[in-house]
Amino acid sequence: MDLEIAELGPDQRHSVVDLCGRALDLPEDAAEAPDVVDALWTRAAADRPVVALGAYRGTDLLGVLVCSGAAGDARLGHVDLVAVDPAHRRGGVGRALLSSAERILAGLGAAEVLLAGNPPYYAWPGIDVRYTPAVCAALALGYRQDRTAWNMTADLSYDGSPALRPTEPAEARLAGRGVTVRRAGAGDLPALTEFARATFGGAWDAELAGSVGRDRAGCHLAERDGELLGFAAYGSSRPSWFGPMGTAPAAEGSGIGGVLLRRCLRDQRAAGVTAAQIGWVGPVPFYSGSAGARIERVFFLYRKALGA
Ligand SMILES: CC(C)(COP(=O)(O)OP(=O)(O)OC[C@H]1O[C@@H](n2cnc3c(N)ncnc32)[C@H](O)[C@@H]1OP(=O)(O)O)[C@@H](O)C(=O)NCCC(=O)NCCS
Repeated sequence: MDLEIAELGPDQRHSVVDLCGRALDLPEDAAEAPDVVDALWTRAAADRPVVALGAYRGTDLLGVLVCSGAAGDARLGHVDLVAVDPAHRRGGVGRALLSSAERILAGLGAAEVLLAGNPPYYAWPGIDVRYTPAVCAALALGYRQDRTAWNMTADLSYDGSPALRPTEPAEARLAGRGVTVRRAGAGDLPALTEFARATFGGAWDAELAGSVGRDRAGCHLAERDGELLGFAAYGSSRPSWFGPMGTAPAAEGSGIGGVLLRRCLRDQRAAGVTAAQIGWVGPVPFYSGSAGARIERVFFLYRKALGA
């Protein structure tokens, strides 16, 4: 029976989650399949074109792919997720899904396709280097490695973890300098969004909106005389993920960042998370020093010019 590639609708969400739960070879990814599918497919569709494809033989779903246009750049298309049932690998299913995605993305105006996260809704920055078949498939299908990215892990599994070091002494020192640290509420969202835009550029609106006051997510902020000095958020893409965070350049080095980070990690632990993922990390020494986080997941990012 021939392989057929069909566009999937929201009513097939359950089958997609089920297949990802079986086909994502790393157990931590398989366990997060429902949140990953929700972020990439349901929520991402609010601000960019998103297409989910299924590979069928008869009525059997053998593989799935989610792709999207970049919100800010129509020339770029992203493959956010591709997964093939382990029982049906090396039969051309992944190739067929990727070829269809390239055609669809070209139709949306893309000149280039990235096998890389499409912020703010992404599951991983790129292909985890441990997904060896995916690395092989990317190369076989004409993608070339572009950048490397990494996540850090903060261990929340035991009381004495440096990630759970108390924040009270540092908060008392900050209070002596007029700085208040507190949990952000819905009323803080406009000021937080404005602060993040003005200080760091415009990319974090959706992550802030997905964190502040949301279930299994949250945000803490630091302020002085009503002026925001920094924030840290977690849970917008899934409960185990920390970020984004930012401290105003003038307040850097005052200990605000470490306090905000560990407040979030404490919340995540209280919600049952045993290992927080600090996604697509920038300042390794900051996370290592403030929370004992270690580099753990490493990702290769790939790109391919269409028509090349
Ligand atoms: C990556 C994945 C989607 C590939 O699906 P697939 O249906 O097995 O891929 P195909 O059969 O179309 O393979 C296409 C080409 O990729 C290469 N390839 C795929 N798997 C390979 C492997 N295990 N070893 C070496 N090359 C491999 C081959 O060149 C293959 O062509 P060939 O069989 O004609 O030699 C599948 O392995 C998978 O679901 N992995 C787990 C999920 C994952 O890693 N997703 C990516 C991160 S989101």
